[in-house]
Amino acid sequence: MAHVTVIPIMLIISFFQCKTLFSSSLASEQQDVGDAPELHNTVWISKHEPGVILSWNNNLTKEETEKYTVKYILSYKFFNTTHENEERLQKKKKRINLNLHSGFNAKVKTQLFAKETDDVIKESGWTAFTYKAPPVYIQNFSCIIYNISFFNCTWYIKAEAPEDIQIFFSYRHIGKDFDCQQYIKNARKKNIGCHMKEIYFQPSRKINLNITVRGMKNNSRLSYYKIFTPQTIEKLNPPINISVSLENRSIQIHWKPPPTIGSASSKCFLYEVKITDRKIVNVTGEKYEYPFHKPARKCAAQVRVKKEKCIRNKIWSEWSEPVFIDHEKTVDVILLSLTLFCLLIFLGGLLIRACKRYQCLEVITMPVPHPSDNIKTWLAADDTTRYWNQMSVQREMYSDATMGTPEENRDENIQQQKCLKESGLEDLQGQ
Ligand SMILES: *[C@@H]1O[C@H](CO)[C@@H](O)[C@H](O)[C@H]1NC(C)=O
Ligand SMILES: *[C@@H]1O[C@H](CO)[C@@H](O)[C@H](O)[C@H]1NC(C)=O
Ligand SMILES: *[C@@H]1O[C@H](CO)[C@@H](O)[C@H](O)[C@H]1NC(C)=O
Ligand SMILES: *[C@@H]1O[C@H](CO)[C@@H](O)[C@H](O)[C@H]1NC(C)=O
Ligand SMILES: *[C@@H]1O[C@H](CO)[C@@H](O)[C@H](O)[C@H]1NC(C)=O
Ligand SMILES: *[C@@H]1O[C@H](CO)[C@@H](O)[C@H](O)[C@H]1NC(C)=O
Ligand SMILES: *[C@@H]1O[C@H](CO)[C@@H](O)[C@H](O)[C@H]1NC(C)=O
Ligand SMILES: *[C@@H]1O[C@H](CO)[C@@H](O)[C@H](O)[C@H]1NC(C)=O
Ligand SMILES: *[C@@H]1O[C@H](CO)[C@@H](O)[C@H](O)[C@H]1NC(C)=O
Ligand SMILES: *[C@@H]1O[C@H](CO)[C@@H](O)[C@H](O)[C@H]1NC(C)=O
Repeated sequence: MAHVTVIPIMLIISFFQCKTLFSSSLASEQQDVGDAPELHNTVWISKHEPGVILSWNNNLTKEETEKYTVKYILSYKFFNTTHENEERLQKKKKRINLNLHSGFNAKVKTQLFAKETDDVIKESGWTAFTYKAPPVYIQNFSCIIYNISFFNCTWYIKAEAPEDIQIFFSYRHIGKDFDCQQYIKNARKKNIGCHMKEIYFQPSRKINLNITVRGMKNNSRLSYYKIFTPQTIEKLNPPINISVSLENRSIQIHWKPPPTIGSASSKCFLYEVKITDRKIVNVTGEKYEYPFHKPARKCAAQVRVKKEKCIRNKIWSEWSEPVFIDHEKTVDVILLSLTLFCLLIFLGGLLIRACKRYQCLEVITMPVPHPSDNIKTWLAADDTTRYWNQMSVQREMYSDATMGTPEENRDENIQQQKCLKESGLEDLQGQ
């Protein structure tokens, strides 16, 4: 593993650059605290896959080393980037992962601190160093973990890359090596991506990618390495179980976070809610209250999510399927109750009309015999029952008689009495 190759050429460059920089820093930083011309660093590099190790030394005397606390300031910047990495170190080396950069500019200086007070006593000027890595033939390399167990990486092959190369992809995670399951190819049959599935990720453990460029003619090999933690490249699925409800005259949209390979604590998630024709809003909770401002005819609510606080992640999920806020539905609550009310009145009116026609109102208004009387009557002998029946029949006969003319009714009366006799009612009268 620790195959270390010192690069002497770089060392020479370093010496040269250090001298020029040293003199310039002397001129510009006269007033600095104890800028000591006698302090001097030597810098060199060694390959240590998957990166390089930058090392340096000082020429402090034995007394100085014992008397003071010695620290180093390392500053480095990859080619074609703007971010300057600066660190204060006590060690005399630093491991740098190139992450597909084609090299970097670094500078180192020594600082001596008083052991008691921690004040800077002396410091050296900067010693600069440039590391030019082997050519990087790919660009715009990016990876994504999605749907929990899916893993995609894609890249472009630079125009200046030799014609005969092919690119191979593998990675190491939790102490295991994995080869690409399925390459994505361009029209020239070059591998420009890798698609993998059913991968188990340990969210906090690093993934070490190994992208190897192989020259097919002379069998040369060049490997680039990239390291990251799975959580930082996770693209979440859209939020789930999205529902819309009307509460307190405002529309409430509720949802739940999607599953994730990392922490599922609710404070990790940041959501965006998009409602047709409205500005997208950021939400940290699991609901959004949409003020009831008479929404457009039919508007759709969509939610997307990413991790924000627990881990820095720039990748938003896709938007969820639209959930429609049915304006009619919300208004209809009032409308529906109104309709129901009208219907009730109409039906009520109909009932009253019908009642008037069939005189059921009289029945309703007629005094109801006392139930206890009724019971007594029924409890009495059969005769009484018959008596009641007879009475009602007689009343009926009487009312019928009064309705017709007396002449006609006399006959009818007789006839009805005959009927009564025939039907055996006479027997009852006799009893
Ligand atoms: C350290 O190096 C500088 C420059 O090469 C030299 O001037 C100085 O005397 C050296 N100091 C020691 C203690 O060797
Ligand atoms: C990247 O930086 C190197 C070294 O500084 C330079 O030679 C090269 O032209 C730069 N490339 C781009 C695309 O800027
Ligand atoms: C690669 O990324 C750079 C910015 O980093 C961009 O300008 C360029 O268009 C990208 N190339 C392709 C082929 O997408
Ligand atoms: C997401 O993963 C599940 C379970 O592994 C699978 O059934 C589903 O098809 C995947 N969805 C997509 C869009 O790939
Ligand atoms: C991942 O790659 C596969 C295969 O090319 C593709 O079907 C899928 O859409 C990609 N998914 C993402 C999220 O890039
Ligand atoms: C990277 O992959 C290449 C080709 O498979 C291999 O030769 C090389 O040893 C790998 N590098 C590491 C550090 O595993
Ligand atoms: C081998 O081939 C590659 C790609 O064509 C080229 O960059 C490299 O210089 C070649 N190496 C030797 C030793 O010829
Ligand atoms: C989402 O809804 C389904 C079915 O309605 C239910 O089984 C599941 O538990 C819900 N998930 C969450 C996180 O509430
Ligand atoms: C409705 O509003 C009142 C006061 O504004 C509040 O106390 C109540 O919790 C709200 N109800 C719901 C379901 O949001
Ligand atoms: C939402 O938050 C993201 C990330 O913090 C930020 O980039 C974006 O500008 C915010 N959007 C709004 C509308 O506040």
